[in-house]
Amino acid sequence: MNTIPVKAYGTDAPEHDLKQFQIDRRAVLEQDVEIDILYCGVCHSDLHFARNDWGMTQYPVVPGHEIVGRVTSIGSGVTKHKIGDIVAVGCLVDSCRTCNNCQNDWEQYCHSWVGTYGGFDKHLNTNTHGGYSEKIVVDEHFVLSVPDNLDKAGLAPVLCAGITTWSPLRYWNVNKDSKVAVVGLGGLGHMAIKLAHALGAHVTLFSRSTNKISDAKALGADEVIISTDDAQMEAAMGRFDLILDTVPYEHDFNPYINTLNTNGTLVILGYLGPLDPPLVSVGMIMGRRTVAGSLIGGIAETQELIDFCGKHNITSDIEVIKMQEINEAYERMLKSDVKYRFVIDMKSLKER
Ligand SMILES: NC(=O)c1ccc[n+]([C@@H]2O[C@H](COP(=O)([O-])OP(=O)(O)OC[C@H]3O[C@@H](n4cnc5c(N)ncnc54)[C@H](OP(=O)(O)O)[C@@H]3O)[C@@H](O)[C@H]2O)c1
Ligand SMILES: [Zn+2]
Ligand SMILES: [Zn+2]
Repeated sequence: MNTIPVKAYGTDAPEHDLKQFQIDRRAVLEQDVEIDILYCGVCHSDLHFARNDWGMTQYPVVPGHEIVGRVTSIGSGVTKHKIGDIVAVGCLVDSCRTCNNCQNDWEQYCHSWVGTYGGFDKHLNTNTHGGYSEKIVVDEHFVLSVPDNLDKAGLAPVLCAGITTWSPLRYWNVNKDSKVAVVGLGGLGHMAIKLAHALGAHVTLFSRSTNKISDAKALGADEVIISTDDAQMEAAMGRFDLILDTVPYEHDFNPYINTLNTNGTLVILGYLGPLDPPLVSVGMIMGRRTVAGSLIGGIAETQELIDFCGKHNITSDIEVIKMQEINEAYERMLKSDVKYRFVIDMKSLKER
């Protein structure tokens, strides 16, 4: 298969910093779109993956699944996009397209889904490589259209942080009568607040950080509860229809379950792994409450979100960085020191 060499940033071991190296992209096939990457958001999953936090990383890894770019070439069968279009790619670049999940537009739950990085690239017989690179080549089905009015850098985080929070908001039918709470004000958390607010819900933030109260309100939160304050947690008992928990690390979910209303649902988005401390069933039985999980979102749903963002002029609050600043950005993300998403300006990689 013909390939094109492109510059990328990634790592070959969990303990190593990310650095520049070269990867191959396939030359466009019939249904493919070649994209010159303009911006790529920095998700906490990129850090988990680069450092093998989930124990499944195969190296080398090139992270990045919040991609906005310009179409530079298309295959002969492509009808959705044309050369020069601004387009976006999120967390998915392939799936079987035939299973029940794919037929229902839930490609993210296809047993053969292929992540934008760290998946299996059937064309090149290697791992897929993500958006910390100059170019990417993706089947048109997984390439999203972008409205003209949105800031391209600010749009990038919508492709993961946005859709990961939008999908449960839509699945659990959030509307103007809903009381939604969000745990953690980071990349996912700030998009969750903006989107739930735009859907008309009453929005509450649970945060450890007292210094984020005014930001949360500016983003659209109606109130903030400091999760380390027992009195504030006690006062919140039985209040929420839906809680989106975006915290990346092990923590106690039980106090949040107690703040759900009858029939309420807590959706785990951030933490992947066994729960410690364990869930106490009393919280679920008393009030028919549910604890659920949710993974990103399907392609049709992602397009729905991008169009919604276009209509409501919603983008992410970002700090633009150079590719060479990524290792420092990871350290800052771990300290929760970002308002509220880093986005890499890919010019910085191309110019080197
Ligand atoms: N389910 C999915 O499909 C999906 C998709 C994308 C990402 N994720 C996962 O979702 C998680 C959040 O991603 P993100 O990009 O939003 O991360 P982020 O920007 O780093 O935000 C995480 C927030 O969690 C809170 N937090 C509470 N305890 C923490 C701790 N011990 N260490 C660090 N933060 C803590 C902080 O908010 P406060 O200061 O307000 O407490 C922090 O801002 C990650 O684990 C990521 O892998 C899941
Ligand atoms: Zn992500
Ligand atoms: Zn499938």
